[in-house]
Amino acid sequence: MSTSDVPAGVVVRPAARLRGRLRLPGDKSITHRALILAGIAEGESRVMGGSDGLDCNSTAGVLRALGVTVERLGSAEGGRVDRLVRSPGRSGWHEPVGVLDAGNSGTTLRLMAGVLAGTPMYTVLDGDASLRGRPVARIIEPLRRMGATLHARSADTLPPVTIVGRASLAAIVHRSLVPSAQVKSAVLLAGLSAEGMIQVHEAVSTRDHTERMLRARGVAVRGVPADGAWLVTMEGGATVQALDEQVPGDVSAAAFWLVAGAAHRDAELTLESVGVNPTRRAVIDLLGRMGARILEDPVPTAGAEPMANLSVSTSDLRGIDLEAEDVARAIDEIPALCLAAACASGTTRIRGAGELRRKESDRIAGIVDGLTALGVRISADGDDIEITGAAGRRSFGLVGAPVRTHDDHRLAMTFAIAGLLAEGETSLDEGASAAVSYPGFFSDLERMRA
Ligand code: S3P
Repeated sequence: MSTSDVPAGVVVRPAARLRGRLRLPGDKSITHRALILAGIAEGESRVMGGSDGLDCNSTAGVLRALGVTVERLGSAEGGRVDRLVRSPGRSGWHEPVGVLDAGNSGTTLRLMAGVLAGTPMYTVLDGDASLRGRPVARIIEPLRRMGATLHARSADTLPPVTIVGRASLAAIVHRSLVPSAQVKSAVLLAGLSAEGMIQVHEAVSTRDHTERMLRARGVAVRGVPADGAWLVTMEGGATVQALDEQVPGDVSAAAFWLVAGAAHRDAELTLESVGVNPTRRAVIDLLGRMGARILEDPVPTAGAEPMANLSVSTSDLRGIDLEAEDVARAIDEIPALCLAAACASGTTRIRGAGELRRKESDRIAGIVDGLTALGVRISADGDDIEITGAAGRRSFGLVGAPVRTHDDHRLAMTFAIAGLLAEGETSLDEGASAAVSYPGFFSDLERMRA
């Protein structure tokens, strides 16, 4: 389909100014883990301010199918919802009759595969067309080594995944070939059913929410630097205790507003109670390196995850170089960073971004096509991306046009923010995918321009 054939799903018009305070949806990664750990533990756990996005609701649905009660307390507000989880404990789960539906969510599928590898029952994990195209060999290999039986379509590479779990697994040493918090978490969650010490070596320390949350629930997990890399160790066979969790605002959702606020010529935005965990905050620091004026005001919290109010205002952005390590740390925010680079002076080079091709869509192809349609000078060479910024040009040279999101929430939101900065009308072929991680994104978009 050529770009002129794109049906107009959502039209975004430029914003004369951007002002306002926002409370973002609960962090998606933390909500998944809080729900899963609450489901494993016996008793009641509250997950407060969690994400009401479609992905986290997929995790809740999978847990319900296994015999866990997940109840919403009150109605959702701004993509945040409080939930009460009641579980008989994992040993009281029942074998589900049907297929477990992870929807669009790689985190649901890969983390639950780890849990189910250590649960003695037969299960099948499946998802939508996008998820059926995402790699699973990376979890099947270590989970098999731990003693579970897993199979997947297309020579064990693609979902659906069938799992015959065992109550007792072997502890392993795992060296992740790709930096992936989902793989690390799958191994650690399976390790709860293993005897001995589990080790996961990572070339780059990926988001450590699983480690923090397991520790808070009584499991001995440590992360330490080792040989220029990162080593996570966990004492297997531990019991996870029920615990309430306060979920911070999602920094990956905040990224869209940080880019909008820094790039727009007349912007002042404040984002409340955003998670600033050192293993997740790379987007804030990379934008800082690009010259973004972001002020951080810490918010006291009793929880394990640090939070801050972030204020961002109109800035002069400049291009920077990102290496593979930066990509691993800001993996979900690269599309938004590409837009920031388009509004900067100079060139931004992003190296080693191949994992972006394995997300909800091929995000390298999607971002290059979409931003090119909007007038950006962007190109990809294999796994590298180069963007020539147009800081000096009117509207950064962005001119509204039809763009395709490939049903990918992060692309949809990046192009919508581009539409606020562009001249003329930007029309997205759909906007519904935003609800995967950020229900209410388009109402926030209208509110911020007011
Ligand atoms: C996530 C890890 C990342 C990220 C995804 C959420 C998590 O995936 O892209 O959105 O919650 O662990 P990978 O582990 O595949 O890099």
